[in-house]
Amino acid sequence: MRHSKKDLKTFYVRTYGCQMNELDTEIMVGTLEERGLTRTQNEKAADLLIFNTCSVRDLAERKVMGKVGQLGRSKRRESVIGVTGCMANAKKDSLFRKLPHIDFVLGTNNIHDLNHVLDDVMATGKQTFRTDQQFTTELDYQGAVRDDKVKAFISIIRGCDKYCTYCVVPYTRGPEVSRELTDIVQECEKLAGNGYKEITLLGQNVNSFGKDKPEMKKLFHDLLYEIDKIDGIERIRFMTSHPVDITRELMEAIRDLNSVCEFVHFPIQAGSSRILRKMHRIYTKEQYLEKVAMLREIVPNVALGTDIIVGFPTETDEEFEMTYDVLKELEYDVAFLFAYSPRQGTPAMRWVDDVPEEVKQERLHSLIELQNEITAKKQQQMIGKTVEILVEDVGRRDDQTVKGRTRCWKNTIFPGTKKDIGKLVKVKVHGYNHQTLMGTV
Ligand code: SAH
Ligand code: SF4
Ligand code: F3S
Repeated sequence: MRHSKKDLKTFYVRTYGCQMNELDTEIMVGTLEERGLTRTQNEKAADLLIFNTCSVRDLAERKVMGKVGQLGRSKRRESVIGVTGCMANAKKDSLFRKLPHIDFVLGTNNIHDLNHVLDDVMATGKQTFRTDQQFTTELDYQGAVRDDKVKAFISIIRGCDKYCTYCVVPYTRGPEVSRELTDIVQECEKLAGNGYKEITLLGQNVNSFGKDKPEMKKLFHDLLYEIDKIDGIERIRFMTSHPVDITRELMEAIRDLNSVCEFVHFPIQAGSSRILRKMHRIYTKEQYLEKVAMLREIVPNVALGTDIIVGFPTETDEEFEMTYDVLKELEYDVAFLFAYSPRQGTPAMRWVDDVPEEVKQERLHSLIELQNEITAKKQQQMIGKTVEILVEDVGRRDDQTVKGRTRCWKNTIFPGTKKDIGKLVKVKVHGYNHQTLMGTV
């Protein structure tokens, strides 16, 4: 017996990685509270500890190994420890070798098994793992317990079929499975009824929605039209999108639907068509630029986000310059910039990771500097403008200020009180501090 079978009363959960993991955590919290457990922020006192993990880059995995490894040395005998999320799928039962003190491993496609696995662990005291390759069971999304009372994440499609050669996600989340449209709409209606004002539709590639279920006869833009009709939902956002599946119909929906925010995450990854081909991004730089131009023509005030990887195998200085030039030319509103990190099980592992770490870091820093300049310039341009903010919370330091985002996803702080949370207000921008705009109502 690894631990005494005392009843589990409290749990602690820590989430790493992306919004999909955050939502999976909210679903697990729902399951555990239903089971009668109480959530605690006190890791040391919890009977059950769950680490919902990410595998996207080496650093993400090292953080978890460090954290959970350290618990092995200080673990109270009776606490139960589980590792869930993408590392669970990437490493499966081999995690028990590296982290012998953990009790269970539960993959991204097995969230619905949480209760069974806990029952097993408690009954037998044995290490248990469930890590299915595919998402098959309907998950009780509506059981999710959310901290946020204004904005909610909603899963519309799980998995990814794109197989970019550097990326571990298709292996940790499995193939694409869309959720039933009626189910999504019903959840949105329920959230609207509970006072939620903003929803973010989630998927590794939301614009693939419906393609795996042709009988549904609905695609991503159709879903937007359906949700736009729901009273009370003021804002719809979505993340993330693959450029290839960003269609004219989607662009028109962003233009025509009041609730759909004018922000598109449009990740280019690299500025050289040769590297893009090697990444299996299935577009050339020219095709990408054409699509961005089309979007900017259809939705002139659209804000754009991107992800970029530097130091992909064989990337030359000239090819990196192409990425630099695209970043400079397109002036994204938000850019997530990464150094290439080889992932076990991906096709890119076949190639030598031949760009030295110092070169990757140099490239990364020159992009960060460039993006900082672009961001400052864009923030400067906002001064004097009036923006619409959905008030999400009180400001960090005092109760005299509140914060929220513009439709284009810019953080904004201005005077207000708790009573304003959930309201849409017009704010005049008078300054900024790094990423955050400052204004007055
Ligand atoms: N589905 C999303 C991305 C999920 S991962 C999309 O396609 O936009 C988020 C970002 O992490 C990716 O866009 C990519 O820029 C980065 N990333 C993924 N794998 C990586 C790796 N092996 N090394 C470095 N960055 C990586
Ligand atoms: Fe990864 Fe590419 Fe799928 Fe995004 S689209 S999750 S980068 S494989
Ligand atoms: Fe990480 Fe998995 Fe998300 S690898 S970024 S938690 S899909």
